[in-house]
Amino acid sequence: MRPLFLGVYTEVYATAARTDPFASPDRFAEGLDHWTARPGWSCGIGNDGDQPVGYAYGAPLPPGSRWWGGLLIQVPADVTAETGTRSYALSELMVRAPWRKTGLARRLHDTLLTHRPEQCATLLVDQAHPKVHALYQPWGWTTLGDLRPRLDDAPIFRAMLLVLPLEAGKTGR
Ligand SMILES: CC(C)(COP(=O)(O)OP(=O)(O)OC[C@H]1O[C@@H](n2cnc3c(N)ncnc32)[C@H](O)[C@@H]1OP(=O)(O)O)[C@@H](O)C(=O)NCCC(=O)NCCS
Repeated sequence: MRPLFLGVYTEVYATAARTDPFASPDRFAEGLDHWTARPGWSCGIGNDGDQPVGYAYGAPLPPGSRWWGGLLIQVPADVTAETGTRSYALSELMVRAPWRKTGLARRLHDTLLTHRPEQCATLLVDQAHPKVHALYQPWGWTTLGDLRPRLDDAPIFRAMLLVLPLEAGKTGR
């Protein structure tokens, strides 16, 4: 599936990658290999006929996860104390432009997160993308605070949390 993930990413992030080294397909490929190798990695892929049109993936956070390493606010230690089974990180969610505003993004999100055994999910949304941040709030996500991953060129993200399980009847299906 690697070519599928890279192909959709390269199209979706083409504009961003022109000016932002953090968004380059090479950087994404590194992250992809890292995430897909993690225990418990899972994904949901949307297809229209025989073509992939979007996907979501993530994995549970291991004990001592670096996910929280760049948090820019003080939080009680228990908020970030991972056990390996406590939090699921939604690492990527993307939909090719012609299939946006169709409900597909929500369906991918719900497909990935419904029936997860963890207590909560977490994601990072670029603070420069307030419309994307706003998208997640009606889906049940709340904002924990700002975080800059300890990675070269990383922007500041808003770290968000979602209590699991997803409530029946509130999914986008
Ligand atoms: C995020 C995404 C899956 C949501 O799909 P959707 O539910 O169909 O919603 P939309 O595409 O209409 O996005 C909602 C708004 O956010 C904006 N937006 C989406 N992605 C954005 C981005 N990467 N940067 C800036 N704004 C973005 C859209 O332009 C839209 O604004 P509008 O309502 O003024 O048109 C899809 O927009 C996407 O694939 N974006 C690029 C990848 C991305 O940013 N993923 C999120 C990572 S946290």
